[in-house]
Amino acid sequence: MVEQKARILLVDDEENCLRALKDVFDLEDIECIPANNGLKALDLFSHNDFDIVITDVRMPGISGIDILRQVKRLRPETHVIILTGYGSIHDAVASIKMGAYQYILKPVIMDELLTLIKDILSRIEQESSASPLQGLKEPLPSGKTILGQSVRLQNVAKLISKIANTDLPVIILGESGTGKELAATAIHHTSDRAGKPFVAINCAAFPDTLLESELFGYEKGAFTDARSSKTGRIEEADGGTLFLDEIGDMKPAMQAKMLRVLEEQEFQRLGSNKSRKVDIRIISATNRDLRLAIHEKAFRADLYYRLNAVSITMPPLREIPEDIPLLANHFAREFASRFGRSTVQVDKEAMECLKRYNWPGNVREMANAIRRAVALSDGKLIRIFDLPPHLVQEQTAAQEAEPDTSKSLLLDDIEREHILKVLEITSGNKSEAAQILGIHRDTLLRKLKKYGVE
Ligand SMILES: Nc1ncnc2c1ncn2[C@@H]1O[C@H](COP(=O)(O)OP(=O)(O)OP(=O)(O)O)[C@@H](O)[C@H]1O
Ligand SMILES: [Mg+2]
Repeated sequence: MVEQKARILLVDDEENCLRALKDVFDLEDIECIPANNGLKALDLFSHNDFDIVITDVRMPGISGIDILRQVKRLRPETHVIILTGYGSIHDAVASIKMGAYQYILKPVIMDELLTLIKDILSRIEQESSASPLQGLKEPLPSGKTILGQSVRLQNVAKLISKIANTDLPVIILGESGTGKELAATAIHHTSDRAGKPFVAINCAAFPDTLLESELFGYEKGAFTDARSSKTGRIEEADGGTLFLDEIGDMKPAMQAKMLRVLEEQEFQRLGSNKSRKVDIRIISATNRDLRLAIHEKAFRADLYYRLNAVSITMPPLREIPEDIPLLANHFAREFASRFGRSTVQVDKEAMECLKRYNWPGNVREMANAIRRAVALSDGKLIRIFDLPPHLVQEQTAAQEAEPDTSKSLLLDDIEREHILKVLEITSGNKSEAAQILGIHRDTLLRKLKKYGVE
């Protein structure tokens, strides 16, 4: 990963102060662009990426407080440090309420300022750098890593590293898109079998008879189309791991055959009565409720107990919202670099929206949403209107669907506030706002009139 280099916009009308600070930043290898008035500063800010803005409060024309206000409006995640003399300390204190990171008294004590900057930078790095889970081999040969800081995912990682080197069969449970296949590859690559094949087969993707010949292979002449012999996946996986994805979709007849392979560690190709020994570790996965399937006689209990020596449950994304910022930033970075863009970050409001959504398609759905958002974004920030509309709409709808009619006054307040917020995001553009809100433009106009908004 590229090492993060700080980029600072430094604003002060006193040339001496500018020069002194710039010299120190140069020494510390911190990139700093000076501006000796507010207008110049805002111009620079709107055309460049800065991690931090350091600004004097009192300047002729545009003040440091005006700059703070604009910066927070344009890119709220930028950190602003206010420099202040005793004369303007009131403004400085007020600036904290407006979102400034900190204020520092002039004349500046360099150590104090540098410590503050380093604090901010490590914070930025923490927020954006996704750290892999402990104990797992990383990254996997696919270039992927299981990311997460939530206790639930940490426990998954611990369990994986604990059982990787046993040869126990593992079943991975979880909704679609929660990372079951990723977990399976992590187990394989953390185990001693890492140098050997990892062979995956999706049991739902083949009709019954085809699944059997895919798994077991066949000899020439085993059936009409068998013009030559073919190695099956079981044989390919010899020495390594066989991943049976969507095992819940396997038909009972196939289940019986797989059970035999598991019990005897041997199998026969179709059209052959020669038994072949294999050494495979079986990992299976399903998003079905296997216990229910057993109850309904669609899944064999004996196979279930065989597969289920260890079971790992991948949590749905809505149950680990604390991992959403980490994953969102990770995908933003990944797709930005794939699309040849510099750095794209998720702004605060969009992040809030991501955190509130309930992600029925889990991590896969989020990866897709971020890919789309990166493509639509201005190349710097993902904003709320870059996100798939249903993501924003559903939340508006949830607010509108409040059943208690006695609260209608409050609801109106919420709606009014929400509309205003969206209008602010779109800089007053009503068509765009209506689109984000998921309502017709005429409906929006009617609501604006009702609320007396100009
Ligand atoms: N914790 C995670 N960290 C990083 N990427 C993840 C994580 N969980 C899932 N992903 C990514 O999300 C996508 C979906 O994961 P995966 O294919 O493993 O899910 P699945 O549970 O097998 O889904 P399905 O049931 O639909 O087959 C993949 O691109 C995977 O790399
Ligand atoms: Mg899968």
